[in-house]
Amino acid sequence: MKRILLLGAVLGMALFAQSDRAPRYRNDGKLLLPADYREWIFLSSGIGMRYSTDGAANPNPPFDNVFVNPEAYRGFLKTGIWPDKTVLVLEVRRSESQLSINKDGRVQTTGGAAEIHVKDASRGGWAFYEFPRGAKEGDLLPKDRDCYSCHEKDGAVDSTFVQFYPTLIDAAKAKGTFRQGVEQ
Ligand code: HEC
Repeated sequence: MKRILLLGAVLGMALFAQSDRAPRYRNDGKLLLPADYREWIFLSSGIGMRYSTDGAANPNPPFDNVFVNPEAYRGFLKTGIWPDKTVLVLEVRRSESQLSINKDGRVQTTGGAAEIHVKDASRGGWAFYEFPRGAKEGDLLPKDRDCYSCHEKDGAVDSTFVQFYPTLIDAAKAKGTFRQGVEQ
């Protein structure tokens, strides 16, 4: 009986260690795309977001869907900051209008690339990874990419865009972690 219990505990720990909710890397440092991120907490969808008014608006604007691992979400609601091992996934999807019975507005269609923002103290804190369409593993983006500077400068909380994640805004404001002045 004791042995069976021990075996159960070991198996349980092995399964826990394999959970996709913590960031997992390959030996060469690439990040694995979490297989179950679509079962995580949904934060928001942006459509056709642009950060400059230069050039014409995209007539076929993509959606981006943002998900976070449930443990990090619960931690954020309690403290207003992201705990270590936070994994935020931004999934890009094409959009279409005249599809099926839809005559106006836009709906989401096929998936494209993904980007991940991970907070991992064992690897120096926040980092971005890029996943081209269909890729199951993503490359670390170097610190001189504009991802880092824009997120640090304009993200409302801890280099993330909480000002666009409606279910987190109140928690961050209540805990005093929401940077003033980024909403306008
Ligand atoms: C000029 C500003 C800007 C730049 C540059 C930028 N982003 Fe973002 N990013 C945003 C905004 C705004 C959002 C919120 C998206 C939404 O609301 O749908 C966001 C959200 C994200 C998220 C979701 C988690 C989070 O941190 O809020 C990821 C992942 C992400 N971006 C990755 C990247 C990567 C990778 C790059 C570089 C290749 C990049 N971003 C460059 C503005 C930027």
